[in-house]
Amino acid sequence: RMGNPTVKALERQIAVLEHGYDSIAFSSGMAAVSTVYMALLNSNEHMISSAAVYGASRVMMEQHLSRFGVQSSYVNTADLNEIKAAIKPNTKMIYIETPANPTMDITDIQACAEIAHSIGAVLVVDNTFCSPYLQNPIDLGADVVLHSVTKFINGHADIVGGIVISKTKELNDKIKGMMFNLGGNMDPHQAYMVIRGVKTLAIRIERAQENAMKVAKFLENHPKIEWIKYPGLDSFAQKDLVAKQMKGTGTMISFGLKGGLEAGRSLMNNVKMCILAVSLGGIETLIQHPASMTHSKMT
Ligand SMILES: Cc1ncc(COP(=O)(O)O)c(C=O)c1O
Repeated sequence: RMGNPTVKALERQIAVLEHGYDSIAFSSGMAAVSTVYMALLNSNEHMISSAAVYGASRVMMEQHLSRFGVQSSYVNTADLNEIKAAIKPNTKMIYIETPANPTMDITDIQACAEIAHSIGAVLVVDNTFCSPYLQNPIDLGADVVLHSVTKFINGHADIVGGIVISKTKELNDKIKGMMFNLGGNMDPHQAYMVIRGVKTLAIRIERAQENAMKVAKFLENHPKIEWIKYPGLDSFAQKDLVAKQMKGTGTMISFGLKGGLEAGRSLMNNVKMCILAVSLGGIETLIQHPASMTHSKMT
């Protein structure tokens, strides 16, 4: 838990890629998320989070940390007015995921940092969907950035991991202190595998992004498609914000079919070229149906 040279090599590498002071590697993305919550929030303090946040990040807060008196509100952070309306005197953290899963809504990182700092709160950004190759939230004012390393950073779908990058030594020390005691550290073999993965991060993302654009254009013109959201398409509503804060348009596509839920199920049962699985960031093309899989409890 206290440190290992291979893990430290990865931590230095990712801190450089995310333009942070330093980083701390974890055994999973959720170890990273829960350690950040516990390090930076006290009893009777409040956080505001994107509603379309990774499910376990919300469960951890609403079902577990709530037992210790931590309060939370979930809003559409793509609408800054919703964030402002949720602020309480004890709000100490704004926590966002952008692009959001599966809505692909983009939250303005710089504006969120300004709101957070104006009330003495920290801005935490889950940057898993972009990786440091496509978005550097610290440059836009974020205080803490985290990743499920399981996804793009490792990129080979063969390890689980997490990482937290802090803008300052003070934040890094606080999170490290909590990690030492909670014990969600990354082990050296995981770190060795991730260092291997990082070597091809740029090439993997460039190629996946190129492919995503081709798939999105094909789907956009398909007669059975009701709607499609991909940040690279001209039809994407938040194109200007994408250009302002992302260095590319990403590899994730969200679309709806004419025929609703049943049409979605039928596509999943018949699709041939993509693997039906819930994850992202590996070299395989995956497809999943939020309404009957990851987000079934919300439909
Ligand atoms: C955006 C996001 N954050 C955090 C996590 C949690 O990461 P892990 O599965 O590595 O614990 C995930 C996992 O899917 C995710 O998609």
